[in-house]
Amino acid sequence: MDDPAKPALKRVFIETYGCQMNVYDSERMRDVLAPLGYAVAPKPDDADLVILNTCHIREKATEKVYSEIGRLRVHKERRAGEGKTTTIAIAGCVAQAEGEEILRRAPAVDLVVGPQAYHRLPELIARAARKTGDRLAADFTAQGKFDALPARAPDGVTAFLSVQEGCDKFCTFCVVPYTRGAEFSRPAADVLAEAQALVDRGVREITLLGQNVNAYHSEGGDGLAGLLERLARIPELARLRYMTSHPLEVTQDLISLHGAEPKLMPFLHLPVQSGSDRILKAMNRKHDVVHYHDIVARLRRARPDIALSTDFIVGFPGESDQDFEATMELAREVGFASAFSFKYSPRPGTPAALMHGQVGDSVKSERLARLQELLGGQQRAFNAGKIGLSLPVLVTGKGRVAGQKHGRTPYLQSVHFADETARDGDIVSLRIKAASQNSLTGERAAQEAA
Ligand code: 5AD
Ligand code: SF4
Repeated sequence: MDDPAKPALKRVFIETYGCQMNVYDSERMRDVLAPLGYAVAPKPDDADLVILNTCHIREKATEKVYSEIGRLRVHKERRAGEGKTTTIAIAGCVAQAEGEEILRRAPAVDLVVGPQAYHRLPELIARAARKTGDRLAADFTAQGKFDALPARAPDGVTAFLSVQEGCDKFCTFCVVPYTRGAEFSRPAADVLAEAQALVDRGVREITLLGQNVNAYHSEGGDGLAGLLERLARIPELARLRYMTSHPLEVTQDLISLHGAEPKLMPFLHLPVQSGSDRILKAMNRKHDVVHYHDIVARLRRARPDIALSTDFIVGFPGESDQDFEATMELAREVGFASAFSFKYSPRPGTPAALMHGQVGDSVKSERLARLQELLGGQQRAFNAGKIGLSLPVLVTGKGRVAGQKHGRTPYLQSVHFADETARDGDIVSLRIKAASQNSLTGERAAQEAA
């Protein structure tokens, strides 16, 4: 007989697009749904609930949503023929930006939930089942979300922890201020409690997340550096990272902490977008090239081995050959360990979409190819530079091949190594034997105490 106290087992499949914030949010949605009896399904084919956690940052990302809904409709119809219901939910930034339109354009979609309303998923699912009431939740403040979400259930030794959401910077190309709302920081006590809970469940490395993570400020006025210092005092927590930072708020105390706090990993993702002052101004980035170089110089003084990563946009409206060469120059001068680079994609409702001087796609493609060649070479050189060194590697799981393990260096490089004994969460000393663009191969040197 069924236990009436125990909900029947249902299956949820969550597809995540876009940034780490979405990865974090998908985990939180999974946690919200677990008490309702939802287990995670590996594929959408036989899931009772399918959630697409979407990204609106570039046109391509948005288009994917509509083509995926088309595929899901087929599953839904097939399952309906078998007498089963399938609920299709659209979450994330496309949901926030185009919720009404999705419901109009895609009748297969049962509900739409924006990034600030995930705690309301159970209520929305119930309404969708009854086919009554509102099918759209697009709240615009992050406070309710964090207060109402349940405790975390991490599934590894590394975890993301969202500390800040939203953006007040209004870069002229970017939809984030419109989809994620104004900058909001979580109270430090909540962050510390969530971190402790993660550590209690075996997490050794935490990456603090925020669209502008270094704009974080606690109720007491502490900035990100203060928060990191407090987190570093959790004894079993071995490593701390944070992303994504804006150059405007890289404070000297944060830079100094990179030199002073061994748990803070020597890696920083610091988007620059362009190496031309003229384009930075048109992008409303609020800083110039000299300022970026100055941050890099101070970081390297504090922590000489720090690895830098960045984002670039090529083909922003008005970008001339000369502006693009300035971007190449900046990349050559800084030397990045890794980088993401994108063709500018006009986004509806953003100022840059209406600017004169839109750049043609073939020019964008040419510039992107040149920049990526340079950045790919820098990444290969950075990885090759580790050959022969012994690095402390956090063991994160099984490798691709039987008997192999996978781990992470302080510089966020993936390492594969043969070892049966290393346990997930150990920090082992590995001698790096080989390197490719995306990963390293290591061998065990000596066990470290962590
Ligand atoms: N077109 C291309 N790239 C963009 N990004 C943000 N908006 C756009 C756009 N409209 C890139 C930026 C940002 C990263 C997350 O995505 O480089 O740092
Ligand atoms: Fe977008 Fe600029 Fe805010 Fe980053 S800082 S989220 S690029 S508006």
